[in-house]
Amino acid sequence: MITERDKREIGEICCCFPTRRAAALEALQIIQKNHSWVSDENLKAAAGLLGMTPDELDGVASFYSMIFRKPVGRHVILVCDSISCWIRGHEGILDQLVTRLGIRPGETDAVGRFTLLPTSCLGACDHAPAMMVDDDLHGDLTPERIEAILASYP
Ligand code: FES
Repeated sequence: MITERDKREIGEICCCFPTRRAAALEALQIIQKNHSWVSDENLKAAAGLLGMTPDELDGVASFYSMIFRKPVGRHVILVCDSISCWIRGHEGILDQLVTRLGIRPGETDAVGRFTLLPTSCLGACDHAPAMMVDDDLHGDLTPERIEAILASYP
């Protein structure tokens, strides 16, 4: 359920834009920051605050892979799935994550610790292959480094 805090923060961010609907992405980010994902209920409420229909706001949400429309684990791993990373070992990194976590891309592990998601270029092609865990960028990955990286996210 959308909270007074959500409403206040969305109201504040709307002041930075020429129209309320122009703050759609920022409003979704606020909802996600406060709830870890964007439920249908919260999306509908946010759309009302922005003067948009839920379908319009869902269109914005679905355009951005970093807006989560399903519940996620405590930590979200975004594995780059674009050309520079393909060339430099993406497959080995993904295999290691799948093996280590016991989940496929798009899934959350049984204890709710990690969600594994593919994403387009992270803008770190010079350090491919790359992934993000929460807000942290990890580049120059090797399968051998994966265990230590995962261990740093309890
Ligand atoms: S292609 Fe992976 S970071 Fe750019």
